[in-house]
Order: sequence, then C-alpha cells, then structure tokens
Amino acid sequence: MTRIEPPWALLAELSHGCPLHCVYCSNPVELIGRSNELTTKQWADVFRQAADLGVVQSHLSGGEPLLRRDLTEIVAAADGAGIHTQLVTSGVGLHEKRLAALVAAGLRSVQLSVQHADPAASERIAGARSFAAKVRAARLVREADLPLGLNVVLHRDNLDSLDALIELGLAWGAERIELANTQFYGWALRNRDALLPDRRQIADAVARVERWRPRLAGRMDLVWVVPDYVDGKAKPCMGGWGALSLTVAPDGTVYPCPAAAALPGLDAPNVKDHSLEWIWRDSTAFNAYRGEEWMQEPCRGCELRTQDFGGCRCQAYALTGDATRTDPVCSLAPDHALVRDLVDRTHLPEPVVAPAYVYRAQQPTPTVSAPVSS
Ligand code: SF4
Ligand code: FES
Repeated sequence: MTRIEPPWALLAELSHGCPLHCVYCSNPVELIGRSNELTTKQWADVFRQAADLGVVQSHLSGGEPLLRRDLTEIVAAADGAGIHTQLVTSGVGLHEKRLAALVAAGLRSVQLSVQHADPAASERIAGARSFAAKVRAARLVREADLPLGLNVVLHRDNLDSLDALIELGLAWGAERIELANTQFYGWALRNRDALLPDRRQIADAVARVERWRPRLAGRMDLVWVVPDYVDGKAKPCMGGWGALSLTVAPDGTVYPCPAAAALPGLDAPNVKDHSLEWIWRDSTAFNAYRGEEWMQEPCRGCELRTQDFGGCRCQAYALTGDATRTDPVCSLAPDHALVRDLVDRTHLPEPVVAPAYVYRAQQPTPTVSAPVSS
C-alpha cells in the first residue's frame, strides 16, 4: 500500500478562455466553456479545502486567468487560506490598477509567458498581437516589486534564439527564466511535426545553457526542462502520479496532472461532488497510477522506476493508446522506436524555415476579454 503524503501545490485553471492561440498549448483540444467555470465562492472553497489538505503554493493559470473579473477576490481567498499565489499569465489585460488590486489582495509573484524575443516571431507563435502587452506587464510587475519569472516553451521556431530570450529576461528584470521544451499533449500534439526540433538544435541549446549558467549566477535562475523526445530519458512527470500536486480545471474537475483529461476511463472527480481530501486520498483517478502495481515491464523490474516513475502516463497514452505502458521516450521502452524515428526523421534546413502551424479555430465562448480596470 502506497503511503499518501499531502499535496503541496495546486494548479488552479481559472479559465480556458485565452486571448492567445499558442501553437504549443498543452490544454485539451476540447476546452471548457466560460459558462461552466466555477464561481468565486466555489474557488474560495477549493482554496480553503486545499489549505486544510496541506497545499502551500498555488499557480493561478488558464488559459488566461486575467479573464476572470473576480480574480482579485480569488487571490484574496487563496491568500486568506494561507496559500501563496503566483499568477501565470500572457500579460494581456494586466494594467496598473488591476495589478495594484491583485497585490493588495495578496498576490506574491508573476510568471509571464514569452514566445520569442523577436516581436513578430512571438506573435506568430502566439497567434495574436501580444508582445507590447508583455513588455508592459513585465515593467509593471517589476515596478510593483513582485518577483517576475519568464516561462518560455521551446521548440523548433525559437530554440536558435535562446541567447536573445535570456537577454530579454535580464533586460526585463526577471529573477528566473524557465526554458521548457515543448510537451506534446493537447493542442501541441496537433503541431508536433512543425514544433519538433532536430538533434543539432537541442545539442546547441544545451551548450548555450551551460555557457550562460556561470554568467547568470546570482542574477537570474535558469531552469532547463529537458526535451524528453530527444533525450531518450523518461521524466519523473509531476514528481509521480498523485504525489505532489493537483490540478483543478475551470469546471471543478480535479486531475493529478494538467493533461490527464485526455485519459479515457479516468473517472476524474469534481469539487462540486466530493471533498478535495476524498479526491486526493480515495478517488480512483488519483490512485490509478500511484505506486508500482500498475507498471508493465521493463519499468516493473527497472532500478530507475523509483526516480522517474516510468515516465509520463499521458505521453504513454498519447503515443501507444495504453497509459500503463512504459513512456515511449525512454530508450528502454518497447515502443521507443515511435519517438526515435520521429526525431531521426527531423533534419532542419539552415536557416530553419517558418513552419506551418495549426491554430485553435475558436476559444470557449462567450469570451470576455476586457480587463476589469485599466
Ligand atoms: Fe524509467 Fe521505465 Fe525507462 Fe526504467 S524502463 S528508465 S523505470 S521509464
Ligand atoms: Fe499527465 Fe505526465 S502529463 S502524467
């Protein structure tokens, strides 16, 4: 029997609505409509229950959380429950008065998404005009004296601009930059052929990151999230299934990870029907891949299973149709050829040409894009 420790983090997907249409979006292909979102009172209750359960950190995300007109009340509720809040945003809709209200309500930090250091390329990847809003948002966050982190999802179209992205982080006063290679879930899977880098790009990026590390020491934390497709190593996804954090979707469905909505038969519970404690400890969904009973060979007999937990369940399902198989990114997996062949087939011309992207055709409706105040 696996001992169930309390979670420490909660990802609150406040809304799937978003003014951007990023081609690497890992949210599900079918988004949750705005009319199905939890109310302010329901979110406040989620945070109270989460704090009782042991959660200390919350990422307020989406979509775009600024689309919630009650974001200030939600932040106040989380802060009042004793939970540290970080806003994860595109920056679109962040204005001076709104940020001041969020800070007064207890907001502790901001993570800003950046698609590219070049404005035109950034907006091509985001599928929307947004770069000027990001420049403004970064300035406002620093003027408000809040810690600023940049989140960059890396892929074929921006890996070669890694130096410029790090310089952008320094210029904007970021304390941390997270360089996360694209995870191919949700919408991103639709763009995999256009986004997958080749081995030369990854090797070059790894060398650049290592060159930057000593120069950034004491100035900016640099986090490099490895590209598991190219690396041949499974990642310890979410620190293990149902081990560290929970994700609450806009309609109150609770998942062990943000991509689990795609897993069939998971029977994910909802905060409208069950307590968060029951969901965390007793629900079928959260216990589905805890421990090692569910594992197949070679994970079952592999000494690395206690470190990487057999990799990512959502990726195993997306690639093989069976969430209990070894994550095919692992070089020991029986299905590894699925990933290796894809990467080996990818040889990019010099210079890398702009890929043809598939953008989301529509957002959940009705879309409310006006900021609360400006
Ligand atoms: Fe990890 Fe399983 Fe691969 Fe072993 S076989 S390294 S446990 S994914
Ligand atoms: Fe769901 Fe990895 S994203 S387990």
